Amino acid sequence: MMKREELLAHYARVRAHYRALAPAYSREANQTCEGRYRDIVQRVMRGRARVLELGSGSNDLLDRVGPPGSVACDLSIDMLQQRKAIARTAAVVGAGEQLPFRDGAFDLVCGAQMWHWTDPPAAEEVARVLRPGGRALLVVGDGVLDGRPENAPDGIAEAGSAIELAPVARASQARPLHDRRLAEIFADHPRREHLLLLQKT
Ligand SMILES: C[S@@+](CC[C@H](N)C(=O)[O-])C[C@H]1O[C@@H](n2cnc3c(N)ncnc32)[C@H](O)[C@@H]1O
Repeated sequence: MMKREELLAHYARVRAHYRALAPAYSREANQTCEGRYRDIVQRVMRGRARVLELGSGSNDLLDRVGPPGSVACDLSIDMLQQRKAIARTAAVVGAGEQLPFRDGAFDLVCGAQMWHWTDPPAAEEVARVLRPGGRALLVVGDGVLDGRPENAPDGIAEAGSAIELAPVARASQARPLHDRRLAEIFADHPRREHLLLLQKT
């Protein structure tokens, strides 16, 4: 877990990174599982009125398929501003580690390709803003820790068990490797991305 000053410096770097990427992000980002993510979010969302998409970026998923009480939240205002001009979802600038929402405010929290940017308190925050029985749906890619492959679901399962987020379902698929450094790191451990469904107990 980062100290407060480290976390603020990290936020400044993330914001600068996405300020530069934002205009081209929706054209150039990895969209390997976007269609499947949308379908699954839609399925899991049935009967859930209050949905939060965390690290939503320029994604207009909730504008297209979310219920009226949906909220898109991201650290980067530049990414949020890339959403379609006529967005019907509330958009909030906020950090996953300190969500600006009350306890139990949501029935579902979803997030794709954003978890690797967050610090461990984000898992506690997801649990906090979910009502009991509420669900979290995350798309996470295997990452790199100390130069070695890291199986993303292991880290989330570990964080989740400490804060009463129980795994419900999981699906995985191969994730393309776009750069040589990653190809070397993942040479003996195929890199995958995972869709994880968790429930607040
Ligand atoms: C790879 S983009 C994914 C955007 C979107 N989920 C998608 O799939 O198109 C990662 C997003 O996470 C956001 N992000 C990074 N760290 C965050 C944090 N600590 N809290 C909230 N959002 C964060 C970034 O600003 C960025 O918009």
